[in-house]
Amino acid sequence: MQTENWIEIEHEFYLQTAKRLPVILDHGEGTKVWDTDGKEYLDFVGGIAVTSLGHAHPVIVEALTRQAKKLITTSNYYYTVPQLKLAKLLCEVSGMDKVFFCNSGAEAVEGLIKLARKWGKEKRDGAYEIIVAENAFHGRTLATVTASANERYRAPFTPLVEGFPRVPFNDVAAIKAATTGKTVAVLLEPLQGEGGVNVPDDDYLPAVRRWCDEAGILLLLDEVQTGAGRTGKVFCYQHYDIEPDAVAVAKALAGGVPIGAFLAKDSAALLTPGEHGTTFGGNALACEVGYEVLKYMLDNDLPGQVTKRGAYLERRLLSLADRQPMVTEVRGKGLIWAIELDHPASEEIVARCLKEGLLVNAVKPTALRFVPPFTVSEAELGQAVDIVERVLGEMPEEK
Ligand SMILES: Cc1ncc(COP(=O)(O)O)c(C=O)c1O
Repeated sequence: MQTENWIEIEHEFYLQTAKRLPVILDHGEGTKVWDTDGKEYLDFVGGIAVTSLGHAHPVIVEALTRQAKKLITTSNYYYTVPQLKLAKLLCEVSGMDKVFFCNSGAEAVEGLIKLARKWGKEKRDGAYEIIVAENAFHGRTLATVTASANERYRAPFTPLVEGFPRVPFNDVAAIKAATTGKTVAVLLEPLQGEGGVNVPDDDYLPAVRRWCDEAGILLLLDEVQTGAGRTGKVFCYQHYDIEPDAVAVAKALAGGVPIGAFLAKDSAALLTPGEHGTTFGGNALACEVGYEVLKYMLDNDLPGQVTKRGAYLERRLLSLADRQPMVTEVRGKGLIWAIELDHPASEEIVARCLKEGLLVNAVKPTALRFVPPFTVSEAELGQAVDIVERVLGEMPEEK
């Protein structure tokens, strides 16, 4: 069937919530994907910061096929080895004590919220408010969309969930000022992904940690986008020598197979049997893949490679910014980067990059985001920046 026919079918049968680009992706390998017409693209979107080992990585393919033939899911009425070996490894690498597996980022953050509310009932006199940040993104469930900042994502669904006061990001004084007897926790992304790749000052998270200790409230980190290696450490908080009380992780964890998890210190993990649950979460298939991906990442020092490749990408983007006045800022860490533009042109640039064989995403109207796989080569990083430079050079003058 022709591309146009599939696009018509999408319009007719799929709930119109996604603004899609006019391309049907068919298969991938490493950093590359191909569409149904056989055209090749460099994939710097990677399922939105998901495909940590690139497409069709043999470790993932092998774990998926082996486990699918053996056992896909059992429910959590029973023990399975894949779930438990991933639980142990994740706790060891995160410094947390307990884990709960789910299927997505939003579910993982929802778990953090429920964990904090339970803790507030038992340890802080029923406190339930969770301080969140401007430009935050935490997911699309009712509670996580409330915790998120984007008004467009929230307005159609009022009344929202109560108890999420908002403060500017990267401003510890604002958190202090917003803390009251009702406050149970602070919930932050260590580096804001969907908000535009906003990297806080180095002393921000340590200062927030100190404040949470002083005030007797929990520090919850949403590492759905930054966790599992993306910033050059397994968890982004490890750059700052701190630990949260609980953390959410998802996207990169199983390299593309849907999985989410929240982890907590024993002191915060007060949920008891029956208080939380899931049908698919912790299934043997996703956990086996998650285990193999994480083990491969650790055995091959992929976080180290992310740091090296990230430094190269940063250099290339900075030198692009030197030559191209439209680029006003370059920001990121590890292998999550954005360039800020001097006017809202990112959607047009994304469409032009697509034609040139590069998938990138318009994280804001004025910013482009790059989240390649951890296995990306220097040559591929260079090619991607070359395409962006060519496209920027051909953009019409701003009127
Ligand atoms: C920081 C953060 N939290 C939560 C989510 C929600 O994850 P999901 O789309 O898997 O529900 C995202 C997704 O982009 C995210 O970046």
